[in-house]
Amino acid sequence: MFPYFSTDGDAKKISIDLISPEGFNIWLSKQDEQTQAWIDDNGYQGLKNSYILIPNNIGKIKSIVVSMDSSDLSYMGTMATSLPKGTYELVGITQTMYQQAALNWGLGAYQFTKYKKGADYQAQLFLPAAINIGQVQHLLEGIYLVRDLVNIPCEDMSPEHLAHESKTLAKQFGAKFSEIVGAQLLSKNFPAIHAVGRASHIEPRLIEMNWGNDKHPHIILVGKGVCFDTGGYDLKSASGMRLMKKDMGGAAYVLGLAKVIMAEQLPIKLTVLISAVENVVAGNAYKPGDVVTTRQGLTVEIGNTDAEGRVVLSDALTYASEKEPALVIDFATLTGAAKVAVGSDLPAMFSNQDELAQSLQAMSFDVGDPMWQLPLYKPYRELLNSTIADMSNNASSPYGGAITAALFLQEFVNGLPWLHFDVMAYNLSSRPAHPEGGEAMGLRTVFEWLKRRYPRG
Ligand code: BES
Ligand code: ZN
Ligand code: ZN
Repeated sequence: MFPYFSTDGDAKKISIDLISPEGFNIWLSKQDEQTQAWIDDNGYQGLKNSYILIPNNIGKIKSIVVSMDSSDLSYMGTMATSLPKGTYELVGITQTMYQQAALNWGLGAYQFTKYKKGADYQAQLFLPAAINIGQVQHLLEGIYLVRDLVNIPCEDMSPEHLAHESKTLAKQFGAKFSEIVGAQLLSKNFPAIHAVGRASHIEPRLIEMNWGNDKHPHIILVGKGVCFDTGGYDLKSASGMRLMKKDMGGAAYVLGLAKVIMAEQLPIKLTVLISAVENVVAGNAYKPGDVVTTRQGLTVEIGNTDAEGRVVLSDALTYASEKEPALVIDFATLTGAAKVAVGSDLPAMFSNQDELAQSLQAMSFDVGDPMWQLPLYKPYRELLNSTIADMSNNASSPYGGAITAALFLQEFVNGLPWLHFDVMAYNLSSRPAHPEGGEAMGLRTVFEWLKRRYPRG
């Protein structure tokens, strides 16, 4: 149990009244004179995303009023870090809302404490037995894992570390772990992963984890694990490179999501694949103009060594499709263009099966973890043409860059049902429930969607 939660039914609790900004006046009219005077003296007007502490006769906290839109409970994320010591209980809301509020409370309480001591938060939220406490905890554990892995710098989160993290996770849930490392990538036919990753002093690898019952539908999660992206010989600028420790965000996502799936024991057969490399410069690094033959057999001309994500994913997607799963889902910090298109909060989502993407998008807004579908617009495929190879990894026009990257990936999924998420994996600044740093936007939605599609028992 996280320290900011309590299940102690006997503890003395301070109630948190959730009201909507529109409901403020009605709420106020129902309060006793003393409370009305207090609210008035403080000039509190119940504006959206604000709260006020209300004292009792002897100056102790009696209750708290929080004004929020019921459609967005993320403001609950500021509570754990700002309320005084005490055990708090939400009153007058549905179980579903309570559960979402609890999740947001936990999301806001996250701190990255590997290199610096954290603050000592004192407020606890009471979790009633009527909500799904296990799922709240599992989701938080999964999302915390993603955030931690992204926040840890490359020096401590290299392809080797990523493999170690995967192995640890596999052990925890009795899953099978294996990896194909360095020159083995060539003998086992993963040439694209090797080409991108061979220049690093840490060997590139394909990480694999297998879990679940063979009789259940097979789902494969594929993650981009570029532990650092310098751009390679097409070197990024200093500002463009600054945050590139997060380029293994896709790998972090698939591990975090796998953790939730295994903890919640969804009835699926799960495979996790991670292409783990560093995209760095050295004498043996792959170079602009090189032609890489992929596992699929398709040849790819390297138009730009900075478009490495799609290259390392190609072999993993081919390998995934060879297993003929029911669904392949990949997560990748694939393009800068995705964040230009949909901003940094929304994952850009693609699918070769429109109904999958549409059901996810519709659900994402209810869950409070939104995402947006972009099209696999076929006419743009010709932007990837190469004069000397089957394809270039760099589209001839930068417009629609997230789409052309997705079209590149589509070449390797062999027509199987497939979802692709081009994610930022990072909050550039803090907002409620979303502290600055690594982030798993979209993870909750994908989990809820899988859970609904593959219900337990
Ligand atoms: N890892 C980057 C994409 C990225 C950049 C994601 C910034 C999030 C924030 C990726 O490997 C990359 O550099 N892509 C290039 C592709 C281009 C060379 C076709 C890009 O998006 O500029
Ligand atoms: Zn790159
Ligand atoms: Zn990259």
